[in-house]
Amino acid sequence: MAGIVANGPFPDPGGTDKVGLMNTIFDAHDVSPGVRYIRVHAPRIATHHRAGQFVILRVTDDGERIPLTIADTDPDEGSITLYVQAVGRTTRLLNRLEAGDHIADIAGPLGKPTEIRDFGRAVVIGGGLGIAIAYPVALALARAGNDVQAILGARDAEHLFLEAELQAAGVTTRPCTDDGSYGRHGFVTDELAAMIDSGELPDVVFAAGPVVMMKFVAEVTRAHGILTLASLNPIMVDGTGMCGGCRVVVGGRTMFACVDGPEFDAHAVDFDILGRRNQAYRPFEQTRSEALDTLDDCELDSLIASAHPSGADHD
Ligand SMILES: Cc1cc2nc3c(=O)[nH]c(=O)nc-3n(C[C@H](O)[C@H](O)[C@H](O)COP(=O)(O)OP(=O)(O)OC[C@H]3O[C@@H](n4cnc5c(N)ncnc54)[C@H](O)[C@@H]3O)c2cc1C
Ligand code: FES
Repeated sequence: MAGIVANGPFPDPGGTDKVGLMNTIFDAHDVSPGVRYIRVHAPRIATHHRAGQFVILRVTDDGERIPLTIADTDPDEGSITLYVQAVGRTTRLLNRLEAGDHIADIAGPLGKPTEIRDFGRAVVIGGGLGIAIAYPVALALARAGNDVQAILGARDAEHLFLEAELQAAGVTTRPCTDDGSYGRHGFVTDELAAMIDSGELPDVVFAAGPVVMMKFVAEVTRAHGILTLASLNPIMVDGTGMCGGCRVVVGGRTMFACVDGPEFDAHAVDFDILGRRNQAYRPFEQTRSEALDTLDDCELDSLIASAHPSGADHD
């Protein structure tokens, strides 16, 4: 796995990193309800990263490993930016961290980079937290000279994030909300279909979001033979192709999303199997997340005490 580095809590053998800063959070703030911007020191990952890749991190030494897309990097500062939606135990704990705290370990960049070239008209679709996954791809496609249209889907105006940042990068945004509070009242697939019906045929479509959303994006584009890529979100454990946790079926073949993906030809993906596999641990995940509901702020902070600079709880 050439190029993958582990930003662990250890001195940097090359001596180029500021060891004391390793995995330290430079900034953390909410961008929408339940979604947090986290910019963290990870200089070697920032240097090697390309759009479409992700990290696997643990919040604390005894925590579980979760995959998160590298949304942006600043090689000069030596930082990577993550957008994290609190959906279960680990993401809820991660989103309690503040600037100055540190993350136990971060491995990456993982996965194959997105193929970035001048396709012509590129449509990038992000639904829910998929907006964070689609964001770096939209930026890279815009930099490569594409006319990039980003269809962003959220349940309401408050939950839609990164629109201003996309616009600042020259991307045209097409927001959609389930309740009609902002943009199109409806699904991202309605906006895509309307675009195609009006004769604005994309040369490539990139989709990231809930499994069912990606499945229907693929159905809309299939009839028109539009190249469509989906960034798959199976459960991942090691991220190196060894555990088999991220198995997906593409074109009738078993592939590992962590090393063969996470992006695949959406017209060949078996989304039904992916959806079923993602539900397999749901009762367990729910129990572990609900256990956090019984804790007060002090007890929650004690679970992540090792992430605080002095090992102490926040005030
Ligand atoms: C390549 C990739 C990139 C991702 N990028 C982002 C991102 O940028 N921002 C973001 O907020 N989320 C991202 N995710 C999803 C994120 O990894 C999960 O939300 C997280 O693992 C949930 O962990 P949890 O303990 O908080 O919740 P859990 O209670 O464990 O799970 C909640 C939900 O997340 C799914 N999930 C659980 N564990 C994993 C896992 N190890 N890998 C993938 N899905 C899982 C479950 O199917 C369930 O639906 C990405 C997933 C993948 C595969
Ligand atoms: S996460 Fe283990 S093989 Fe992909």
